[in-house]
Amino acid sequence: MKIGIFDSGIGGISVLHEALIHLPDAEYIFYADTDHVPYGLKTKEEILGFSRDIVKFLTDKGADAVLIACNTATAVAADRLRHEFTIPIIGMEPAVKPAVKQNTGDKRILVMATPVTIRENKLHKLLDTVDKDHAVDLLEMPELVKFAEAGCFDSDEVRTYLTERYSTIDTGRYSALVLGCTHFNYFIPLYKEFFPEDTAIIDGNMGTVRQLARIMGEEVTEGQMINSYVNYYVSGRPADEKTLALIQKLHERLDMIKEIAGR
Ligand code: DGL
Repeated sequence: MKIGIFDSGIGGISVLHEALIHLPDAEYIFYADTDHVPYGLKTKEEILGFSRDIVKFLTDKGADAVLIACNTATAVAADRLRHEFTIPIIGMEPAVKPAVKQNTGDKRILVMATPVTIRENKLHKLLDTVDKDHAVDLLEMPELVKFAEAGCFDSDEVRTYLTERYSTIDTGRYSALVLGCTHFNYFIPLYKEFFPEDTAIIDGNMGTVRQLARIMGEEVTEGQMINSYVNYYVSGRPADEKTLALIQKLHERLDMIKEIAGR
């Protein structure tokens, strides 16, 4: 089974990371569209065009299914691409459902995502279905993807940015913080500095890997991350040594986050 996974950039590595742990027998082609990142500040037409080219690239490389490891591209392009291609196309959306499920009392849920994801119909339809108590607040994070792409994770610049973005909300009110962009996982240790200790930090990565497994008729397993069955591409070019070293560091950061966050 050959799975194509793509994102505008390094965010998708956080999804690939889960796939490598839980579906280790598959072969992966990972595509980061770094030439065009960030998608969250592009037009819908641009995002659809980039996504279509990537799915074509991945099918030409023999992918049996494509996982869009990007909430933004999913919101804009997944339905259209499912009509245009015959292989299964699995998308992502902010994990609002589990967040609503665990919410109690007068606590609230905060969904952070790119401006495109926050504006798109897909998220609002999801909220109409699952957020019956109107307990979900939405917060655009237009700059966080750029910080991630610059490898700027534990920096004062990011702290200042988060302080500014959170200045209009009461972080103490939230039972859950939903990461509605795959780039946002790298900053989990920083969010913890702003939210109460018992605020759950929820992403859609594992749910998406489960959905991939279901569609491909596979069982998810627990195991060690295996990094040897992945071919990495950057906007259509095979990743060079420097990029591969960076990707290795990202996998290590994700392991570290899993450990400290008990995830
Ligand atoms: N990682 C992407 C997401 O999940 C998009 C980031 C971007 O390029 O804006 O939404």
